[in-house]
Amino acid sequence: MDLLVVGSGFFGLTVAERAAAAGRRVTVIDRRHHIGGNAYSEDEPVTGIEVHRYGAHLFHTSNPTVWEYANRFTTFTDYVHRVYTNHDGVVFPLPINLGTINQFFRAAHGPAAARALVHELAGEFDAKDAANLEEKGIALIGRPLYEAFIRDYTAKQWQTDPKDLPAEIISRLPVRYTYDNRYFNDTWEGLPTDGYTAWIERMADHPNIEVRLDTDFFDEAQPLNKRATVGQVPIVYTGPVDRYFDYIEGALSWRTLDFEQEVLETADFQGTSVMNYADADVPYTRIHEFKHFHPERADRYPADKTVIMREFSRFATRDDEPYYPVNTPDDRARLLAYRDLAAGEADVHFGGRLGTYQYLDMHMAIGSALSMWNNQLA
Ligand code: FAD
Ligand code: NA
Repeated sequence: MDLLVVGSGFFGLTVAERAAAAGRRVTVIDRRHHIGGNAYSEDEPVTGIEVHRYGAHLFHTSNPTVWEYANRFTTFTDYVHRVYTNHDGVVFPLPINLGTINQFFRAAHGPAAARALVHELAGEFDAKDAANLEEKGIALIGRPLYEAFIRDYTAKQWQTDPKDLPAEIISRLPVRYTYDNRYFNDTWEGLPTDGYTAWIERMADHPNIEVRLDTDFFDEAQPLNKRATVGQVPIVYTGPVDRYFDYIEGALSWRTLDFEQEVLETADFQGTSVMNYADADVPYTRIHEFKHFHPERADRYPADKTVIMREFSRFATRDDEPYYPVNTPDDRARLLAYRDLAAGEADVHFGGRLGTYQYLDMHMAIGSALSMWNNQLA
């Protein structure tokens, strides 16, 4: 073995694939029973509808290197992501755009008039002086739009009143003064034609790559554990950085999600893939309906059934899946301490979402893994 990769998400698999292609013999371990990290998907057994096991995953990038690399393993559909939100029993398009504004104010403003209106409403606070997330939100888009679309949704995401959240959680709240409600602005967007798992499996399908699942790096009962391998073989570690150092500087805080999946005996539940619920009286933040991610599979998917998944958000305990870094000032101080420790760890390269305590989209994970391969490992 020339390289040990801990974690088979997009970061770990990209490094493993590049190393294998360069003739290195790579072992990839993952504590889960499947590869792919949080991008993993599987077909719901009753309906055959592809379900993204760890929440909806939309691929989008403007990076030509990443786009070219991804296309070596999969083609992409022409899916374009759009999100709607239910507020007070009415559905509005997101991100907030001219359609949202005119529907909300029951008006027919053109772009200039809508811009002037939002500017006037936003005058209540100056973003520079905002003492908390609520004041920042009002300073950016004005109280009526903030209270309708941001306040309760944010409170549900953080289980915290936005008046008690730091202003810097939001740097901007994009408002579009056109009717364009395409969610992503990237050059390329789509879903893997044969699903995420087919894509991921093709990345790992190389004679120089050995994958060992259900294998935890910190389990000393298995041979490729931390104590047995550090210093013996180069390691790319994509698990949680605080766990690697036994939480010696304290635990980094994360938010996690809970998912409730349901198969419904109906052709179409909500008419779109993602519906947010903006209000406090609905406990979940959104509902995913997976068949809408793949309209081109209509002939394969059942006409009389659908799969939905309600998403709930909360702070993670140590036993939960870490999903989004909370990034408090304490977290940032701890992260700096962990970075120092990581720099002193000979031939262990920390990467990915968990290894760097950073939210990374798939294209960012792939891009930074390609950089690590080119700059540090090749
Ligand atoms: P991960 O995918 O988390 O992989 C890390 C792997 O390391 C895991 O498989 C884990 O089991 C393994 N591991 C951890 N500890 C150990 C250990 N001790 N021993 C062995 N293995 C270990 N990206 C997008 O581009 N579009 C989206 O729409 C999108 N939606 C997302 C939604 C959610 C809810 C989340 C959480 C992420 C989303 N992402 C999305 C990002 C994407 O899922 C990945 O996080 C990203 O590709 C980064 O991959 P990674 O390899 O760094 O981490
Ligand atoms: Na303002």
